[in-house]
Amino acid sequence: MSRKIALATLDAADRELVEMAGDESRHAYAPYSGFAVGAAVRTRSGKTYTAANLENASYGLAICAEVAAIAAANAAGDFEVESIAIAGHKFKLPQDSTQVVTPCGRCRQVIFEAAQVSETNVRVFSCNGDLSEIVESTISELLPAAFGPANFGIDAAWLKMRETLHAAVTKLRANRSR
Ligand code: THU
Repeated sequence: MSRKIALATLDAADRELVEMAGDESRHAYAPYSGFAVGAAVRTRSGKTYTAANLENASYGLAICAEVAAIAAANAAGDFEVESIAIAGHKFKLPQDSTQVVTPCGRCRQVIFEAAQVSETNVRVFSCNGDLSEIVESTISELLPAAFGPANFGIDAAWLKMRETLHAAVTKLRANRSR
């Protein structure tokens, strides 16, 4: 079950992750909703990646903070996601920072995919704007009975396939410099 926890009771690493998410909401590009979301991902390496929501005049193209943060970890070649923190608040007047922001459905699916790669039941910290309310969950709690790589019978295939990808890119590079 999801658990309500206080910032002060988190260990140093989790507290830092939650605070990073709160601070990251500063980078939201959200002229349409007036709602800012920050996300911070921690990977097995201990590194962290942050991102904020990125909206578009074509409303449906908005990129959520969680998706952008997970994409940043992947872009750094560091996709073994272990934890993610999310914090959001309405900054458009009248402001409201009281509501805990849990990942939207698409974000849950994206977190689930990352969880399959890291073989970790990713921990999710959902927070309100001033971090006075934090709910800790796991991705399997937030997205039970998920559709994922197992449906294709490729559970652990990616790690091997990634080696093939890296070898292919190395070969392409070698051919290019000849
Ligand atoms: N948003 C996120 O960034 N993450 C979520 O999980 C919920 C929604 C963003 C998308 C949009 O820019 C704004 O919040 C309002 O929906």
